Amino acid sequence: MSSLYEQVFAATAAAFGSVQEGADPVVRVSDRADYQANGAMAIAKTLGRNPRDLAEEVAGMLRGNPLFAKVEVAGPGFINLDLSASAVIAGLEAMAQSHTLGIDRAPKSKTVVIDYSSPNVAKEMHVGHLRSTVIGDSLCRLFELTGNHVVRRNHIGDWGTPFGMLIEHLLDLGEESAVSELGMGDLDGFYRQARTKFDADGHFRERSRQRVVALQGGDEETLRLWRVLVAESIRYFDTVYQALNVGLQEGDVRGESFYNDQLDAVVRDLDAKGLIVVSDGASCVFPPGFTNRDGEPLPLIVRKSDEGYGYAATDLAAIRDRIDDVGADLMLYVVGAPQEQHFAMIFAVATMAGWLTESVEAVHVSFGNVLGPDRKMFKTRSGETVKLKALLDEGIERSRAALIERGERLDIDLIASQVAMGAIKYADLSTDRQRDYIFDWDRMLAFEGNTGPYLQYAHARIRSIFRRIEDGSAPGPISLTEPQERALAMQLLALPGVIQSAIETYSPSKLCTYLFDLAQSFTAFYEACPVLKAQDQALRSSRLSLCELTASTLRVGLSALGIDAPEQM
Ligand code: ARG
Repeated sequence: MSSLYEQVFAATAAAFGSVQEGADPVVRVSDRADYQANGAMAIAKTLGRNPRDLAEEVAGMLRGNPLFAKVEVAGPGFINLDLSASAVIAGLEAMAQSHTLGIDRAPKSKTVVIDYSSPNVAKEMHVGHLRSTVIGDSLCRLFELTGNHVVRRNHIGDWGTPFGMLIEHLLDLGEESAVSELGMGDLDGFYRQARTKFDADGHFRERSRQRVVALQGGDEETLRLWRVLVAESIRYFDTVYQALNVGLQEGDVRGESFYNDQLDAVVRDLDAKGLIVVSDGASCVFPPGFTNRDGEPLPLIVRKSDEGYGYAATDLAAIRDRIDDVGADLMLYVVGAPQEQHFAMIFAVATMAGWLTESVEAVHVSFGNVLGPDRKMFKTRSGETVKLKALLDEGIERSRAALIERGERLDIDLIASQVAMGAIKYADLSTDRQRDYIFDWDRMLAFEGNTGPYLQYAHARIRSIFRRIEDGSAPGPISLTEPQERALAMQLLALPGVIQSAIETYSPSKLCTYLFDLAQSFTAFYEACPVLKAQDQALRSSRLSLCELTASTLRVGLSALGIDAPEQM
């Protein structure tokens, strides 16, 4: 057993077990003691006993255990548990020795498919795609950190009727200039010009319509032009991924078009199971419990009346593919809250079809909006979609200026970009993902407060302690005398549990809160306890160990958020 919490849980469970077999001790981290076990009340009820007596009986058994320094019954039957110094020290030592800092590698590794980023071809990625990219990347890292097999899926929008007009516009411009325009990342400009012509010019509209037919019919030249559009867009998305340092690769792309030849089979399968209802010529499934504003049953349209397929059909094919082909145990869809109903219906239909069973789980990991300083949707001053690459570049410029102002000179290019990306990602990840947040450069780039740069700086400052060692001191056996040392130790030991709960709730924000608290516990410790100036060698070594564990924990935690921890800044 790696984490101290698990040892506490096991010891308490064993004591409760002797009162009632298999009883849940309900052990929690507490502000009254290190831990509190609240299981006595429920068990006393089923046994028809006095809860306080029962708690006393259990406490009596725990008192002999060397894990605990103090075991006390409080209130109607709470058991307060304080760890012994030797247990805390043993926990820290185990943490220092483990190359995962005590984080459990899942005993049964799952295959987790994470659908994130997923922008649309020939359209600028918007800030919603930024959120999806940042949250999705952190979830990938968290699941990998705990030993799961992660499969990334970039479900780009690369198919549909707009491609008729986009291809015709590409031909009008000439392939070469179209490619150079797209190469500069002006995806929205390209799209808008095509749209304008489409709305104004009947002849262009007709050409576009025929082009859609050719595309769907598999015409070779049309497909080639379509591939040019897709490739150029992916090239632009890649520049954003590289700037952000997220692990999405071209090989993770499974666009909507990837499922084209599976769509007929999806309809056939649903039909064979008696789920298809033809309504106004369209093939629909009516999952129970979904109604429109007038209270009428709401259809999921699988095939339109013109025989065409849309967003719902590709997602049904994708879910089937992820279960059958990828072997997913868990599928996450990191997509904004407006698509909640879409995914609820996809999951409901996949369940009705028997694809989604009890052994596989599908979760819509939804998130709120990014707002501008005016609390409206984040847009440029002229009301346009913010260009993501330009936004990231602006972040780098701002952080460079802030670093220069602080007098930092080291590796300025590298550190400016690490700080900027850290700031942007942390601002996003640290708010509860369901909530909206305001995109505010000054706040996110501040070196004080709950920000990415603050945590990066906290880490670098600890590392600088090690650079200042002059007398050969090194981390050594830990002793805990001051209350700030013990508080820091308890905070360090909470890491595995925090990682676990961040994963269980798909909430990197829990890890952010933890790291911020840890940095503050460290500051309190550092103010109260001299490290390099401690009187004796043994104390210096002990405190250096606490410093080292804190730095490692910050580094591992930040890396699970996708944030770099420079050694010096
Ligand atoms: N391309 C979509 C959009 O921009 C997001 C796709 C999300 N993933 C999915 N499997 N539907 O809104």
